Amino acid sequence: MIALASDHGGFALKEEMKKHLDSRGIAYKDFGCDSPASCDYPDMAKPACDAVVSGECEKAVLFCGTGIGMSMAANKVKGIRACACSDAFSAKFTRLHNNANVLCLGGRVVGAGLAAELIDLFLDTPFEGGRHQNRIDKVMALENN
Ligand code: RB5
Repeated sequence: MIALASDHGGFALKEEMKKHLDSRGIAYKDFGCDSPASCDYPDMAKPACDAVVSGECEKAVLFCGTGIGMSMAANKVKGIRACACSDAFSAKFTRLHNNANVLCLGGRVVGAGLAAELIDLFLDTPFEGGRHQNRIDKVMALENN
């Protein structure tokens, strides 16, 4: 199960990406927003990230205008490793090296074709572990300072 959430800036891309996930047979839960009306991205980032931390959802894909606000909000939630990506290399390596559990996309930055490619890389690429696990452990320890 993948958590989805957006504000108004990412709403249209989120709706497009639901079709992509449907075509792949990937289940998702949409934590809003439900229309292009103006809203505040932390309000939707929080429940989607909580669902990842609780284990209800495996990962989340969050959408706002740039992907940046959503990534800033998501990274405030303990247990979340979120990255705003707009290129394939970063989407792949945020899984391989950073074990990201949240991908943030900008509806005003990437088109639907690229967004679908980035989501596929994020969902399908495993974490490499090894030397990267120690670094992730140190990143997560920062939450307790
Ligand atoms: C909303 O206008 C916009 O600021 C928001 O979607 C996002 O891009 C913030 O980072």
